[in-house]
Amino acid sequence: MTLDEKARQPLTELIAAGDSVESLYAALKEAFEGESTVVGSPAALKTLRDRWMARKNGLIAATNNAWLKAAPRELKPLVGKSQNELRKAIESALKQAQEEIAALGHRREALDVTLPGPERRLGAKHPVRRTLEEILSIFRELGYAVEEGPEIESFFYNFEALNFPADHPAVDEMDTLFVEDKMLLRTHTSPNQIRIMEKTPPPLRYVVHGKVYRNDAPDATHSPMFQQLEVFCVDQSITFADLKGTLEHFVRRFFGPRIKTRLRPSYFPFTEPSAELDITCVFCAGRGCRICKQTGFIELLGCGMIDPNVLRAAGLDPEKYQGFAAGLGLDRLAMNKYDINDISLLYNGDTRFLRQFR
Ligand code: DAH
Repeated sequence: MTLDEKARQPLTELIAAGDSVESLYAALKEAFEGESTVVGSPAALKTLRDRWMARKNGLIAATNNAWLKAAPRELKPLVGKSQNELRKAIESALKQAQEEIAALGHRREALDVTLPGPERRLGAKHPVRRTLEEILSIFRELGYAVEEGPEIESFFYNFEALNFPADHPAVDEMDTLFVEDKMLLRTHTSPNQIRIMEKTPPPLRYVVHGKVYRNDAPDATHSPMFQQLEVFCVDQSITFADLKGTLEHFVRRFFGPRIKTRLRPSYFPFTEPSAELDITCVFCAGRGCRICKQTGFIELLGCGMIDPNVLRAAGLDPEKYQGFAAGLGLDRLAMNKYDINDISLLYNGDTRFLRQFR
């Protein structure tokens, strides 16, 4: 039997079935309290009041008839007292609810439209994206065009055309992620040198950027996917001085005029001669610190004059055309710039980290 049904059942029958006056009133009180906690609007308050206090069919009227009036003599005092207490408790709770709802309405009317609205969370630009955009704008000013190229690349463009010997360690499956027999996830952005030279006649000035992949175990400085940016220029009578001048201009624009550069001889299959460009440490201005491991310099990029074999593979005559190229890791640059010590922070999508770059 529900509580509503019991409220309309003669008291003697309920007691015969095992209820007591105390338990019956306690149950009603508990039911009212449960229903009154969710009341928040005038309409809900009216529903609650009608259900309990309606003169004709409310629960108080019903128990007044079925329980109080019909109570046997010896129970009358107890039932009367309980009925009275319950009614009073309900009346005062309803009154209080009424006041609270009225106050809420009042507050709403007094809304101050000059207050600032709730804060809206804006998206943030990813640190690698910020770094990329800054670099692109520097090279765009110099007349460079921007491309991205395919992430799934052929063995030919990724290695062969770039003058990699067949037994070069990078070709090994240990480093390269193959998709199928002669197709792979590009390990660098350099294949686009060939793609662009094949389809567009010189003069060429291009920046190619995007994701590259290597079969590396992730740690604080390695990620199986990271991002590179490649700069290259092909024209008649391009010399190493053009390479040096262009890169120095870039470094000064990006890091500021105080930063110095240094070229170190190096080796890449697709450039000859090859070099690495170091810059004086941006954090200690060359004095030596944790970031530059006390050397005063940080490695910035690899570069060189495009190897004649590469020009030839792309169908250009190396007697007529020369070029320079440079490639840098965007992640590492962003990590240097923003003092980020773990590459995984760039890719695990934690908005607490990313929010800082608004
Ligand atoms: N492709 C090289 C790498 O992934 C980077 C690189 C070095 C690109 C020298 C170049 C370059 O264009 O000239 O390690």
